[in-house]
Amino acid sequence: MEILTQQGSVTEVQTPLLAVNLFEGVTSPGGATGAVDGALGGLITRLIAEGEIKGKLDEITLIHTQGKIPARRVAVVGLGPREKFNLDAVRRASGGLLKRCRELGITQFHTIVHGAGAGGLETSDCAQAVVEGAVLAAYGYKQFKTTEQPSAVDRMILVEADSAKIPRIEEGVRLGRAYSQATVTARDLAATPPNLLYPQLFAERAQQIAAQHGMPCEVLGPEEMEKLGMGAILAVGQGSVHPPRIALLRHQGDPDGGRLLAIVGKGITFDSGGISIKPSENMDRMKYDKAGAAAVLGTMQALAELKVKANVLGVIAAAENLPSGHSYRPGDILRASNGKTIEVISTDAEGRLVLADALAYAVKQGADTLVDIATLTGGVGVALGTGGAGVMGNDDDLIRQLRDAGDRVGERLWQLPIWEDYLWEQVKSEFADIKNSGGRLGSSPVGGLFLAQFVGNARWAHLDIAATAWVDSDHPALPKSYIPKGPTGFGARLLLDFIRRGAEG
Ligand code: BES
Ligand code: MN
Ligand code: ZN
Repeated sequence: MEILTQQGSVTEVQTPLLAVNLFEGVTSPGGATGAVDGALGGLITRLIAEGEIKGKLDEITLIHTQGKIPARRVAVVGLGPREKFNLDAVRRASGGLLKRCRELGITQFHTIVHGAGAGGLETSDCAQAVVEGAVLAAYGYKQFKTTEQPSAVDRMILVEADSAKIPRIEEGVRLGRAYSQATVTARDLAATPPNLLYPQLFAERAQQIAAQHGMPCEVLGPEEMEKLGMGAILAVGQGSVHPPRIALLRHQGDPDGGRLLAIVGKGITFDSGGISIKPSENMDRMKYDKAGAAAVLGTMQALAELKVKANVLGVIAAAENLPSGHSYRPGDILRASNGKTIEVISTDAEGRLVLADALAYAVKQGADTLVDIATLTGGVGVALGTGGAGVMGNDDDLIRQLRDAGDRVGERLWQLPIWEDYLWEQVKSEFADIKNSGGRLGSSPVGGLFLAQFVGNARWAHLDIAATAWVDSDHPALPKSYIPKGPTGFGARLLLDFIRRGAEG
């Protein structure tokens, strides 16, 4: 979608559709909405008085202008109550508008920047949120549809009367593009079918994205893993004809900075469960078990695009978990690259195994802070539902910063406790240092406790996105216009915003 900024008056723009907005409870609109209302002879005020326009969030009222202004239609977009207004409301309003335009078959439209006027939010942030809402609502994974698809909305123009605000809007558009591209990259990767994105191809995709942005990228294959003693990720991949890969991308945006953050993603390109095989129902969905790694790659791409002043190592831990005569088995004892031994209880608890070697490797590379992101446990959805992801770790400041970033981008996190005194009982092994599964109770914190064994002395946080990485009919779609059914790309914008905020100091 092309996104343009235009200085001008809403009552003068020539367009198939012009979007203005309204807070809930406002009876006589001001600003751009007021100007349009005036030009339409008070029609909007009348519709409010008659109760047809309420200004509720997700409400869009379409008005045909009958030649009273050059815009053929006006859409009055509800922003909800002013007290609850925030950037996520802007994303939702913008996404809803995009969807309405698509339904109407309108391929381009003008809109004011919601929130930048009476909303009291920062203009650049609002423009960014308008862009994110529209681009992300327009998303669909349609690459393999050979039948004709409805025409897409291909242009959005942001109108603003005040020329002093234009540079801030353009800055927001620049950021909004990069943020939504991070999410779109993450969504595309998560949705790509497992026959077309196995570990080797995932690593090649990482190299491609790195090369486009001049980022160094190195890939470890099974021989290198063998040398490094990465017995855990190797075991997970050994049942598949597609051996595992670890791809490492380096964003060196702060050559003088001494710190190194690693973002580490679970990239199981297909999780059948292995010998501890999953039920066949919905197994096709387990292609999104690479959503964590997908978010990491989306983030890395945007860090490079925006030249963010930070040093970040992006780690993609890719393997395919299949049952075969070569598979690892329950009962196997593995040795991870940090020397710890692991007794396999379930081959379906494979995510923590690939992350164990990837986290230990990031520590060896000199990372002082680690954030991993993974579709690790079904249990996180039992605990929290689909409204946010779980976060755990060993550093409360780090967790706080990640939660704040999540709140800013509309990807909420909620902390789960790693109560070692209780949980250790569940994972202590008779034969090895630790078991890879502690059963059903507290499965998400148990996953956290397991990962904690591989982070050395680094500050570390773990995001469990199993219930937020994909929206389907089984769990109600998030009530957000800009998160359509399918892959959500959850975590990419969150990590990007967390890193950018940290880089600002
Ligand atoms: N990839 C799954 C977790 C998952 C479940 C992601 C549903 C998305 C939707 C993970 O590898 C897994 O199988 N976890 C097990 C862990 C258990 C064996 C300790 C789980 O959650 O049941
Ligand atoms: Mn599994
Ligand atoms: Zn998995």
